[in-house]
Amino acid sequence: MSELKNDLFLRALRGEVVDRPPVWMMRQAGRYLPEYLVLKAKYDFFTRVETPELACEITLQPIDIVGSDAAIIFSDILVIPQALGETVLMEEGKGPTLPHTVTTQADIDALQVEGAAERLDYVCKAISLTKKELNGRVPLIGFAGAPFTILCYMVEGKGSKTFDRAKQFCFSQPHLAHQLLQKITDATISYLKAQVAAGADCVQVFDSWSGMLAPEDFTAFGFEYLQQITDALSPLCHVILFPKGSWYALNQISHSGASGVGIDWTVPAAYAREQTGNRITIQGNFDPARLLTSPAEIKKEVTKMIDAFGVQRYIANLGHGILPNVPVDNAKAFVDAVKEYKKK
Ligand code: CP3
Repeated sequence: MSELKNDLFLRALRGEVVDRPPVWMMRQAGRYLPEYLVLKAKYDFFTRVETPELACEITLQPIDIVGSDAAIIFSDILVIPQALGETVLMEEGKGPTLPHTVTTQADIDALQVEGAAERLDYVCKAISLTKKELNGRVPLIGFAGAPFTILCYMVEGKGSKTFDRAKQFCFSQPHLAHQLLQKITDATISYLKAQVAAGADCVQVFDSWSGMLAPEDFTAFGFEYLQQITDALSPLCHVILFPKGSWYALNQISHSGASGVGIDWTVPAAYAREQTGNRITIQGNFDPARLLTSPAEIKKEVTKMIDAFGVQRYIANLGHGILPNVPVDNAKAFVDAVKEYKKK
């Protein structure tokens, strides 16, 4: 059905029988690649994101250089707050900053859901261009941040170790929190649909901070909106949910209708399998810091990881984004070890 030369990633998401697991790395576009750092020195962050030719070039780099089985479009999760009308600054060494935080009814009322997806048309242009340039080599993943994670940045205004102000907002003003989450969700659904229309074969929803929530709070402030996104997108493409740290929600997520779920390295393979049955493909969960060891050590640990998860209904990946200081040879060793995996 597909004109893809390598559709291993999509076959794993469909639960088809494969000879080896597909492999890609979260945050593989950017960060550690010298070819990326050249473009980073020349253009500021949002120029790289908003120029389809640059975003396309950066997306293809890990396919050409490390040989991943899937590409992920180069962009950022914080383009949604921008499209809703917020200012987002990305300063070197500081991470993202949103100078105007959202905390009141008036702040929420000012957010413009209408037209948000259209304002992100440059991402769709980058996706169409990348599909063309990939020429069927591997599938292309589109993505967005999960509503709770986006709320964290919009309320807090910057990264945080605990996101306690964002949680305080949810717990003390739940009515406002749900309004904000719904606005983010509505914009995200339109945006992800546009990514699929432009050619994305799959979408991943990054809930980087969901693990900050207790299980019942995740159900209320996290899962509710992940479910809305999954309901809207899963008839159109494969959906992978990555609620980092929310190990307690694996069973719930396995019944969501998503094709895949990402897990981090704190989750044992047997536990993840037991919680999800054969209902969903598991993606993960190599500790990104293990890529700072040696190619031989990486190969040994990758083999152990695949032995534990099994080859079927599994996508080899990291448990979170690749670190900026990973040597390219080690990233290659990770990908090669998956490709060379032989069942004992
Ligand atoms: O996966 C990919 O390679 C595609 C590109 C991508 C970026 N950000 C590019 C980027 C993706 C999928 C993201 C997602 C993202 N952005 C998340 C969710 C995933 C995760 O790691 O938890 C989050 C929380 C953000 C927000 C964000 N953007 C932060 C906290 C930072 C600063 C620190 C950092 O590097 O993560 C960014 C900036 C950013 N986004 C960079 C890149 C390559 C680094 C800045 C630069 O290269 O100029």
